[in-house]
Amino acid sequence: MPAVLGVNAVFHDPAAALVVDGRTVAAAEEERFSRRKHGKPPVAFSTWELPEQAMRFCLDRAGLRPEDLDAVAYSYDPELAPQPNEDVTALEWEGLRTLYARRAPLFLKTSLSGLDPEKVRWVPHHVAHASSATFASGFDPCSVLVMDGRGERGSHLAGRFAGGRLEVLAAQRLPHSLGLLYEELTAHLGFRRSSDEYKVMAMASYGTPAALDEFRALVRHDGAGGFSVAPVDFGRYAPALAPDAEFTPAHADLAATVQRRLEEMLIELAGALHARTGDRDLVMAGGVALNCVANTRLWREGPFERIWVQPASGDSGTALGAAMQVAAELGDDVRPMRSAALGREWSDAELASWLGTAAVAYERPDDVADAVAEALADNQVVAWFQGRSEYGPRALGHRSLLADPRRPDNLEKLNDIKGREQFRPVAPMVLAERAGEIFDGPLPSPFMLFTHDVRPGWAERIPAVVHVDGTARIQTVDPDDEPLLARMLARFEARTGVPVVVNTSLNTAGRPMVDDPRDALECFGSAPIDLLAIGPFVVRRPARPAAAAGEAGREAEVVAG
Ligand SMILES: [Fe+2]
Repeated sequence: MPAVLGVNAVFHDPAAALVVDGRTVAAAEEERFSRRKHGKPPVAFSTWELPEQAMRFCLDRAGLRPEDLDAVAYSYDPELAPQPNEDVTALEWEGLRTLYARRAPLFLKTSLSGLDPEKVRWVPHHVAHASSATFASGFDPCSVLVMDGRGERGSHLAGRFAGGRLEVLAAQRLPHSLGLLYEELTAHLGFRRSSDEYKVMAMASYGTPAALDEFRALVRHDGAGGFSVAPVDFGRYAPALAPDAEFTPAHADLAATVQRRLEEMLIELAGALHARTGDRDLVMAGGVALNCVANTRLWREGPFERIWVQPASGDSGTALGAAMQVAAELGDDVRPMRSAALGREWSDAELASWLGTAAVAYERPDDVADAVAEALADNQVVAWFQGRSEYGPRALGHRSLLADPRRPDNLEKLNDIKGREQFRPVAPMVLAERAGEIFDGPLPSPFMLFTHDVRPGWAERIPAVVHVDGTARIQTVDPDDEPLLARMLARFEARTGVPVVVNTSLNTAGRPMVDDPRDALECFGSAPIDLLAIGPFVVRRPARPAAAAGEAGREAEVVAG
């Protein structure tokens, strides 16, 4: 029974994944345990930091000890990276990153007592991204496209996957990087680099691509499957924004320009790849593959019939990809991932114990799905904590915040609850069998990696989830995969005639998604959420009597005085 632990530790989003006998047993990001968003900063001198808690969770889940592992797959190959010279702080610390990556077996042995450091194998970063899409999708043969910020020395990989083997057809070397271009724009617009790129994508929908011709000259496909990105002075188009500053039309236009050029490049690169492979299917990973607007344009205008995108397309997904890659090299029949719900879960008894410790009043309704549907139909906001937590940045109905999509003001209400910018959209989840009637776009869409046009007649019925450009980033819910979630949606439809619910991640701004019951209780306790549905239990926020509120206020004054 070969067991391979995958580890991502090099840049950020440290994560671990465990593949046993070809099956993905567990995968989790370290931020969900450490409660530090993205785990660590992507600087060279943090490369030694390992996803210790995520690794231990994966092993515990399978009942394995470090000495039971057949291999540890590390998603970066120091031999392919810039080599350290005597001064490891030279080259902007790149040498130090390489040195730390090379020492990873010793760091791993320290964290995982009993591990034989000889069992650590390095997997090239973009091969790990590619494998997170090829093996995980179950498509074979298929074409694969990785578009990323950076790996060892490159930013992209295009290839063909057949018979479980990857043939690399093109790879673009740094400094040319579509991911880094988008990251630099993210920083220019006052957001957090390699973290908030999705905010730029949202902002782009408020602008027009005014400088597209100039960016077509700056960012060019080389005709052979690679590309070049000339240095860009973003300040020429709009001044740099301070964090939290209001953006102007010029900023939205710049975001729209870069977004549009990125979409065009994706279509051109995919076209060049298809010309060589002739495949029907394409799979994608790498940070740029989280750009659901670009993915959708590729699906509509590109040559591939089916497109599968790894839900953990950022660097966290390389833990799974590296593990799958090495499992295949060890001769395992690697199975596709069926769901992103690969993280922690708690039994009903454990959840009851957590609620008891918190001393909150709770009840166990006959059917939690029905109780939640009733609350949503009554325009309550519900924290929904069910089953295993999600791997990757999207809440997919396991750690979600839910609301009624029929009320237009629920967008603002949810953004207020989460303490985030008002231009940020929220997304719908929809019963899979009804999705085609309401939304136009690639179906099924279980991982929220595409945007769909809302069909005529529906936009007015579900205004909270329709973006300014008339689209929605949907999650389709199949009862075979997600029976509880599907039942909740069906019950909501029975009450309202609408098989759609608002879904956004269960967290507040700047914090990782809720993972354990304590996180859920803390989030519920600190934000105006009406109901927490945690396993089979519900916790309702008691109505606050005016007199009691006054008492509390006076008490606070006394304490302060
Ligand atoms: Fe990456």
